[in-house]
This record gives sequence, C-alpha cells and structure tokens, in this order.
Amino acid sequence: MRKILLITGALTFLLVSYALSQKTEIKNPPSLDPYIGNNFYDATKLIPGELRRTSLVSRAKPAPYKEYLKIPKIKLPEADFRGMTVEEAIEKRRSKRQEISFSREPITLAELSQLLFSASGITGRFLELELRAAPSAGALYPIELYLVVGNVAQLEPGIYHYSPKYHNLSLIKRGDFGDKITQAVMNQPSMKNAAVVFIFSAIPARTTHKYGLRGWRYVYMEIGYISENIYLAATSLGISTTAVGAFYDEEVNQLLGLDGREEMALHVQVAGKAQE
Ligand SMILES: Cc1cc2nc3c(=O)[nH]c(=O)nc-3n(C[C@H](O)[C@H](O)[C@H](O)COP(=O)(O)O)c2cc1C
Repeated sequence: MRKILLITGALTFLLVSYALSQKTEIKNPPSLDPYIGNNFYDATKLIPGELRRTSLVSRAKPAPYKEYLKIPKIKLPEADFRGMTVEEAIEKRRSKRQEISFSREPITLAELSQLLFSASGITGRFLELELRAAPSAGALYPIELYLVVGNVAQLEPGIYHYSPKYHNLSLIKRGDFGDKITQAVMNQPSMKNAAVVFIFSAIPARTTHKYGLRGWRYVYMEIGYISENIYLAATSLGISTTAVGAFYDEEVNQLLGLDGREEMALHVQVAGKAQE
C-alpha cells in the first residue's frame, strides 16, 4: 500500500512539475516589461514647456532615400489611375486570404507599378521636397518598401527594393524566397504562392532626427497610411491583399539584410490574384 502511495505521489509530483514547467515556458521573458506599451506612450508624449522629447535623438541625419547604386534598375510603367472611385474602393476593400493558395495567374508589371505608386509614389512637389502618395510627418518618409516577388510578369523571382524617387526597382537578391517568407510569417496559409509580399521597413532616425522620441509614433502611423493605400489600389485592380502583422522580426530582417537597429522590418503585406 505504501509503495502504491509512493508511486502515486511521485507521479503527481512529476505531473505538477511538468504542468508548472509548461506554465513557466509561456511566461513572458523576465526582460519584457509588461507596461512596455504605457512606457512607450509616456516616453513619446509631448508636454507643454518640455522640449526634451524633441531633442533626445541627435545622431547624424540619414539620407532621405535609400539607393542601391551598383544594381541595374527595372523601370516601372507609369501608374494609370482609371480604376474605381475611392468611395467604391473603400466600400469593397476586404482582407482577402487564400484558403489554399493564390492563383497561378501573375500580377502584371503595370499592376505592381500601380500598387507601388499608390503606396509611396511621388505625387507632388513643394520647393525642394518631393511629396508622396501617403502623408509623412515633416515629409521625412521613414518607410522603405521591399518586395519578395514570386509571380509578377516580366520580373524574375527575388527580393527587390522600390525607389519612389525614380519609380523603379533594384533586384537585391535573386531566387525564390517564397518558402522563406512564408516561414517568417509563421506559415500563415494566406502567404502560399503570393505573387508579391511587400515588406515595410523603417529608418526611424529620418523622423526622430527632427522629432525626437515622438518620431517613433509617426513611424508606426505612416505604415498604416501606406498599407491602406495598397489595400485601396489592390481593390480597384481586383487583386487580393492582406496586412500581416504576425511575423518573426529577425527572420524578415535577415532576409533583407537589415540590422534591426538603424533599419528594421515593421510590417508585411501579401498580394496576389485570387483562385477562381
Ligand atoms: C496591423 C494589422 C495586422 C494584421 N495581421 C494579420 C495577420 O498576421 N494575418 C492575417 O491573416 N490578417 C492580418 N490582418 C488582417 C485583419 O485580420 C483584418 O484586417 C481584419 O480581420 C478585418 O478584416 P478586413 O480587413 O477585411 O476589413 C492584420 C491587419 C492589421 C491592420
């Protein structure tokens, strides 16, 4: 009887230890501040008479455009704004995921051009400044756009960088990165056979150089404006798109060769034609 009790006790102990170890595993790492959101909010608050927030970050001003000088450029056709009205696009916009896979039908270069121009294209000028499709605090444009191309007509698969200044693309890595990006977004089925995956990175110092810590808020806001423009342009073109916030940051940074400090990936958006 004593033996049975001992065995039962030992088993219970093992089970409880296992359950506790499982619990500890899902606990936040000790370095993670549970109030990080509040701290971010407080650190980036503007307070009357307190200029600290706007003068904390004083590193060298980064270049306003990122350029891949030594890489041949792929010129994009001019964007053609003759789609549905903005009201219709707003009404019809939906996040469209593919249950099994995107269609094998490619996105055309003209369609991609239109998506990119709607995101970050140069639409106006003010003195020396080139103004873009989406608004930006101080017209400083901290967001860069990269594309993982899988199925776009006339473009070989690879990772590209978009230049708003010249409305062209630089092929920075050749090859099929479909599996890598799918894995980096936690294997979400919506990514399968995407024609193109947009990766939004930020160079926060472009904005924090002028606005201090407050600039961090603007960086995140600006991703939203750009993403919505892609949503609306895609809706007008009959292309499916979905914002993807759930991704492994470092995997995406590595894919693009970003250091995660001066520049980091902050958002992903997938697009492609829907299966009939
Ligand atoms: C910041 C953000 C992150 C998102 N992340 C994901 C994601 O990781 N995977 C996904 O399938 N949808 C994602 N979505 C899409 C939302 O699920 C979608 O917008 C929501 O269900 C509302 O549907 P609607 O966009 O069709 O109106 C995200 C949307 C936003 C704005």
